[in-house]
Amino acid sequence: MDGHDLRLRVQDLSIEFGGLKAVSDFSCELYQGELVGLIGPNGAGKTTVFNMLSGIYVPSSGEIEFRDRKGSTHHAGKINPAKINRIGIARTFQNIRLFSNLSVEDNIRIALHSSRNSGPVDALFRLKRFRADEQRMIAVTHELLSLFNIETKKYELACNLPYGEQRKLEIARALASNPCLLLLDEPAAGMNPQETENLMKLIRFIRNEFHLTILLIEHDMRLVMGICERLMVLDYGRIIAAGTPEQIQKDPAVIKAYLGSEAING
Ligand SMILES: Nc1ncnc2c1ncn2[C@@H]1O[C@H](COP(=O)(O)OP(=O)(O)OP(=O)(O)O)[C@@H](O)[C@H]1O
Ligand SMILES: [Mg+2]
Repeated sequence: MDGHDLRLRVQDLSIEFGGLKAVSDFSCELYQGELVGLIGPNGAGKTTVFNMLSGIYVPSSGEIEFRDRKGSTHHAGKINPAKINRIGIARTFQNIRLFSNLSVEDNIRIALHSSRNSGPVDALFRLKRFRADEQRMIAVTHELLSLFNIETKKYELACNLPYGEQRKLEIARALASNPCLLLLDEPAAGMNPQETENLMKLIRFIRNEFHLTILLIEHDMRLVMGICERLMVLDYGRIIAAGTPEQIQKDPAVIKAYLGSEAING
């Protein structure tokens, strides 16, 4: 890996809420095509890290440098969520956020909209380019929904999907914005073990297929260790360990944080 592959460099990121430091001096580098796990006990600060990376929270201090597909560098710590999405960072939420009263298909189309090439003028006059775009939208929506095996549900309202499928739709929607960095916050929460296993395989497949960089928050230690090349462990807002799954599994600080090795090996 060299400097060209660098996607994200985070340096000493901190944030406090009313005097309480939720995240302290979080640093990491993510490279093109990596699948990295972010783990840690409840309240460790994992979602807060995502909220800073995705422009929802402004860090109290620290730097977030993001390199987009064209190689331009952005100081992401000061960019609002809509713009963050446009530069190529997409995320899903621990508590699903969909347009619940829109159809499955429309949830995807809204996200695709932000990645369109043609502008409003073309749309008004229905120029040739727009028609090509419209065809592209239909095709891409079909592909994304098929990938997650929810293509047959495309006319259903998002709120009528079973929970596991809503989670899949949320990931599909994140992909529709054409990201190069995808942040997944407990994507398998609420799924049964079989669905979870399938989803993890799919996440790996997506990374391989679309050459994405993925940062994954996941509670199931066994699963996250099975699919990630690297892991970072947060505890009380600080990184207490980072390394390969093998290294993390043996790390005394990690074992202590999880109150015994059971949670890790089991
Ligand atoms: N907007 C906020 N205002 C005040 N405190 C907050 C806010 N957001 C997060 N926190 C606090 O920051 C800490 C980290 O929370 P966070 O949600 O990031 O943890 P987490 O690692 O994602 O936990 P979980 O595994 O339960 O999802 C917690 O103590 C939480 O209460
Ligand atoms: Mg969380």
